[in-house]
Amino acid sequence: MSSTYLVKGVSVLGAEPTDLLIRDGIVASVGGARDAQVIDAAGLVALPGLVDLHTHLREPGREDAETVETGSRAAALGGYTAVCAMANTSPVADTAGVVEQVWRLGREAGLVDVQPIGAVTVGLAGERLAELGAMADSAAKVRIFSDDGHCVSDARLMRRALEYVKAFDGVIAQHAEEPRLTEGAQMHEGEVSARLGLTGWPAVAEEAIIARDALLAGHVGARLHVCHVSTAGSVDVIRQAKAAGVRVTAEVTPHHLLLTDERATSYDPVFKVNPPLRTQADVAALRAGLAEGLIDIVATDHAPHAVEDKECEWAYARPGMLGLETALSIVLDVLGPQWDLIADRMSRAPARIAGLSEHGHTPAPGAPATFTLVDPAARWEVDPTGSASRSRNTPYAGMTLPGRIVATFLRGEPTVLDGKATK
Ligand code: DOR
Ligand code: ZN
Repeated sequence: MSSTYLVKGVSVLGAEPTDLLIRDGIVASVGGARDAQVIDAAGLVALPGLVDLHTHLREPGREDAETVETGSRAAALGGYTAVCAMANTSPVADTAGVVEQVWRLGREAGLVDVQPIGAVTVGLAGERLAELGAMADSAAKVRIFSDDGHCVSDARLMRRALEYVKAFDGVIAQHAEEPRLTEGAQMHEGEVSARLGLTGWPAVAEEAIIARDALLAGHVGARLHVCHVSTAGSVDVIRQAKAAGVRVTAEVTPHHLLLTDERATSYDPVFKVNPPLRTQADVAALRAGLAEGLIDIVATDHAPHAVEDKECEWAYARPGMLGLETALSIVLDVLGPQWDLIADRMSRAPARIAGLSEHGHTPAPGAPATFTLVDPAARWEVDPTGSASRSRNTPYAGMTLPGRIVATFLRGEPTVLDGKATK
């Protein structure tokens, strides 16, 4: 028997305060709420549960950095109700067996819906297509395929992958990085890299692949999703592709919306990420592209790393940073309280791209009770030791951010209450 909750005085997407009755996994009509547990939500904003299209959970293989359970808990605390788990695990999620394992671990943890992403190529090696059909037909029902961490740089393989997934309306999520242009790269190629004497990762290495893949996707008539767009030029390429009718969607990370390559001057590897932090002009173009909808969604690229892989010299440190627990606060900081826009870019649109039909619904009578409650007035200081993630590599340590997740509900059951995970 599921519990009944009465969420009192909540503002749904910034509208006038109302009450929400949560019963049997859905938002019911208010009335007859006698045995309900009351949640005082005065001053809180309800959003549809956030959906992350790009999460690294590290299980199987690097459970010392993150597990499906610890990453799921970090996600719930960040207001998420679904995450798509990237395939660059060990072993790689390139078979039905591995994606089913991740999917099952997600169900056991029960904190968010974990939707596995399948690899495009065997072992992420970029040589042969993985068993895309078997992963699609598996219990995990994979619809997104990505070699993230690596680019599918072979144009013929990329074309084949697009053709293959078109049959079941799947999507290829590309990590756009022309590898010959980024050999040895340590950071964004520009004034700062020149000053520091570090090998640069030029913007064109991303833009060239997006342009090529948009042409391929248009030719095939299949869906392309572009991971972590980081440059102003990429926004222009996506604008052209969309105008030409290509079925392309794109994501931007919170860190690319906020931080720049100036951070590398500290040589603190917590700021090392792939694609790298870019310039202020890129940040401005990404913000504008997100507001306009050229960039469809915010995705975290939550990339936990163990201390020994991250707290070392810049050149040896792994790229990537945590993101699940801070994403909403960063987006709130960047966009301000534009609740409907935030709900679209962080829940509705990613749910649509991933085909997660139970997610992305504004809490209203009849909708699934899968939502999160935010306190927009709260400010909090990021403390890496307080993270639910197994790793500590947040670039926001010590920063004071706006907006706190107070509660998260997944199909009527709280995964977070009073800012704490329920399990
Ligand atoms: O910074 C990154 N980290 N970029 C990627 O593409 C992969 C990710 C990881 O797996 O750590
Ligand atoms: Zn990537």
